[in-house]
Amino acid sequence: MIVAPSILSANFAHLGEDIKHVVSAGAQWVHIDVMDGIFVPNITIGPVVVKDIRKMTEAFLDCHLMITQPERYIEAFVKAGADGITVHAEATNHLQRALAMIREFGLKAGVSLNPSTPLSVVAYCLDVLDLVLIMTVNPGFGGQSFIKAVIPKIREAHAMVKGRDIIIQVDGGVETSNIAMLRDLGVDSVVAGSSIFGSADPARTVKELLALGSTKVC
Ligand code: DX5
Ligand code: ZN
Repeated sequence: MIVAPSILSANFAHLGEDIKHVVSAGAQWVHIDVMDGIFVPNITIGPVVVKDIRKMTEAFLDCHLMITQPERYIEAFVKAGADGITVHAEATNHLQRALAMIREFGLKAGVSLNPSTPLSVVAYCLDVLDLVLIMTVNPGFGGQSFIKAVIPKIREAHAMVKGRDIIIQVDGGVETSNIAMLRDLGVDSVVAGSSIFGSADPARTVKELLALGSTKVC
């Protein structure tokens, strides 16, 4: 299980330190939530911040673009040093083109689906896809509750990508109490923001998530 701490819940006044703590604790990816105030009702960070994060860590930089027409900014995130770029299916009229563009730059191409978006929108893009991000909250903010109604979509995604090298990622409301259930559903990667950075000891929480995500519960 790949644990990707979402820096949305980190303290931006000492972002570098917060990232170092979770990466030294074993987090393989760093999840960067990019919001434009249009696709989602919040504004966060852009490529200039990714560029500086790139200088201080070798961890995989997992950029989740919650912006309209993400094609406009793919190259900027590539230049900033992203390793993976995930775009929202709802934010582009040309999903296949956006994914192919990310792949052409040599990055992992991901597609994210809002809780109400059916999985079928990715059915004809599997050949240009490295990651499917199933949102278990409505994107825009950290600290929201996991939407259980999305669980059947996770199962469906697992069946759809069978035999392909495509990562299933879940984002929103992930914590120590539900990560084992997600692992059992076939989830390969979880994003966790408030449950990590809002905890008393973020490094310890990362270790707990990694342990729970990799151990089969009997
Ligand atoms: C929400 C973001 C998430 C967010 C998750 O729009 O995509 O990555 O940071 O936060 P938690 O883990 O607190 O639900
Ligand atoms: Zn995210």
